[in-house]
Amino acid sequence: MRGRSCSTGLSWWVRLNAQTTDKTMNRRRFLQAGLAATAVSLWPHGVEEARAQTEPRAEDVLIVYLTRTGNTEAVAEIIRQEVGGEKVSIELETPYPEDYDAIVSQVDRENERGYVPPLKTKVGDIGEYDAVFLGFPTWDMQLPPPMKSFLHDHDLSGTTVIPFNTNGGYGVGSSFRTVEELCPESDILEGFSTRGGLERDGIYLAIKGERRDEVRAEVRDWLERTHLAQKPE
Ligand SMILES: Cc1cc2nc3c(=O)[nH]c(=O)nc-3n(C[C@H](O)[C@H](O)[C@H](O)COP(=O)(O)O)c2cc1C
Repeated sequence: MRGRSCSTGLSWWVRLNAQTTDKTMNRRRFLQAGLAATAVSLWPHGVEEARAQTEPRAEDVLIVYLTRTGNTEAVAEIIRQEVGGEKVSIELETPYPEDYDAIVSQVDRENERGYVPPLKTKVGDIGEYDAVFLGFPTWDMQLPPPMKSFLHDHDLSGTTVIPFNTNGGYGVGSSFRTVEELCPESDILEGFSTRGGLERDGIYLAIKGERRDEVRAEVRDWLERTHLAQKPE
């Protein structure tokens, strides 16, 4: 998607050194899942009960994601296929410019001012979901402003939140930490991150073909680790 542009918008790149490294998140629910898994190994008859405690039912799962060039959406779709649930794409009231340099500048300005853009997307009954996956690309080594808008607009208190990310090869930056800050009353599980495209260099949808199979395997390992889904035999 979008016309290729030779970027001068290198602000996130330059700021990279100031960023902290990716942070693994695991909280109460994750520990509970670990305890359940231990119980399973000690008492194999409890397998089904333990699964029921840790794996959300498909109808209770929401997968909310922001995508521009399709990589985060590709991961969202893999998660849907592995766990089930409903996918919702975050749409803005006023879409970002198609030009890469223009969006980089705009996001930079929004981050500096703490501006969160109004969204078209509203999920009315978000409290009814047990587990909400939140997917986003790294932008400016941060959580993209529209995902901040979504978390301002929706109360995820008491909900299990599972972040996932694609990036151009520079990691999640502060994005996972910001999810924790914006969801103080949620149980936040270990996040997933993988390399997606790099629009700056003309690489748009990268999670396709063999790369998609690789990412599916990474997602399955992660879901198994967090006890959100069983790895297929
Ligand atoms: C405005 C903007 C800023 C970006 N900033 C970063 C960044 O700071 N670090 C990084 O690794 N990739 C960065 N990228 C690349 C995206 O994170 C990467 O291409 C991601 O896979 C895109 O996901 P999508 O296809 O779902 O939109 C940026 C892309 C855009 C459009």
